[in-house]
Amino acid sequence: MDLIKKYDKPGPRYTSYPAYPHWQNGPLQEEWLHELAHHKDLRADLYIHIPYCQSLCTYCGCTRTISRNLDKGMDYTSYLLKEWQLYREALPNLSIQSLHLGGGTPTFLRPEYLKVLFEAISPLLSEDFSGAVEVDPRVTSERHIETLVEFGIGRFSLGIQDFDPHVQKAVNRTQPPKLVATTVDYIRSCGGSGINFDLIYGLPLQTQDSIHKTIQEVKKMRPDTIALYGYAHVPWRSKAQKSLERFHIPHGEEKRALYELSKKLLEEAGYFELGLDHFALKNSSLYQAYQKGEMKRNFMGYTKEVAPVTLGLGSSAISNTENSFIQNEKELEDYQKVLDKGHLPLSSGHRLTERDQKASQVIQSIMCKGEVDLQDYLELLCEKETLNHMGKLEEMERDGILELKDTELKVTAKGRPFMRNICMVFDEYLNQKSESKARFSRTI
Ligand SMILES: C[S@@+](CC[C@H](N)C(=O)[O-])C[C@H]1O[C@@H](n2cnc3c(N)ncnc32)[C@H](O)[C@@H]1O
Ligand code: SF4
Repeated sequence: MDLIKKYDKPGPRYTSYPAYPHWQNGPLQEEWLHELAHHKDLRADLYIHIPYCQSLCTYCGCTRTISRNLDKGMDYTSYLLKEWQLYREALPNLSIQSLHLGGGTPTFLRPEYLKVLFEAISPLLSEDFSGAVEVDPRVTSERHIETLVEFGIGRFSLGIQDFDPHVQKAVNRTQPPKLVATTVDYIRSCGGSGINFDLIYGLPLQTQDSIHKTIQEVKKMRPDTIALYGYAHVPWRSKAQKSLERFHIPHGEEKRALYELSKKLLEEAGYFELGLDHFALKNSSLYQAYQKGEMKRNFMGYTKEVAPVTLGLGSSAISNTENSFIQNEKELEDYQKVLDKGHLPLSSGHRLTERDQKASQVIQSIMCKGEVDLQDYLELLCEKETLNHMGKLEEMERDGILELKDTELKVTAKGRPFMRNICMVFDEYLNQKSESKARFSRTI
């Protein structure tokens, strides 16, 4: 309880380091294309962002646009194709190792638009490519599923969040278990290779009892992996979350107890906790990658492989290499305007310094393996900085959340809830005064 009080403070989720609000001095279009064209290995993970959703879930912190007009999907697809064409022309050696459709809601696009998109991308897919899609069961038809599987999209991540009708009503997302079960069955019957459920703990009106019921339903459908996200309350960014403040929103110790209960029930059902807030069955490929120490983390969460380059298509999508991050225009109109002029719709980015890269490796290792050898990183620091870092880490060791042996750091079982806090020790941007404007969700 005391540790939760001490460490429950705002901090990044570290899907990238530096965290997005700390990016500065990103590459311009010519520099970005030059970097890609001269990259020694142009195998890429392709991320395609579909920003549209048909209705608003009030807890949502994603970049999305609400519309019930499905025709908008056709126009949007034509912009994705323009952007794809710009990359194809500039990068003759490009090959795509994996494709991830995210959002918003990718199945906002009618199956025929998805088909047009896949046909354009297919010629550059590598032989062993893998595909994943985020689907909202409420708007995903059998034809969607057939089209996705036909084009090699095998892994389906379903937005569930919670099965309790009261919680669902409070967050404006009514989604009966039966509807989800039908979607899961159809994906499996079509040959989908993996199912993930997104759940959230810490939503308004959630109780130990409601979590119990939700996990009971989850167990019946037995997804291969589960992302159990802590509800990120960021109303300064996602205004609709303000409307949830009229309900009781669990936080601190109460919120953590919801996670611990979910974890206990999932472990009893044969799931294994890995990384931060993720669970997997032992026969899943993610668990096997974790066991081999090969699990990675990127903007989409945990994954078994990461290509040297990520290309992001669509509004707000993020691309990166080992040296740079760059995000597309976030607003749909701006994204389209820049493409209309024949340019890549790039906006803010970041060039990683050598120190960023080393800190990023440390943070990746903590988030994916729960341990890291700090030697390389510490060599870059001056004496004062080393003393400062070690002082913070030794205090965490006294709190029992990590163990230090020479330069080796290991997160303890007690320290798992505080993984983000441990990573924050290595985040030099958090301590810079000029960055005080950056706001993050709380770590617990
Ligand atoms: C793009 S959505 C998934 C696909 C689809 N739009 C859906 O909702 O079914 C990505 C996931 O982010 C998670 N998410 C969204 N807002 C969140 C928040 N404020 N805190 C924690 N997780 C959140 C949800 O679990 C959601 O399923
Ligand atoms: S949770 Fe998914 S469906 Fe709901 S608003 Fe966010 S992106 Fe759209």
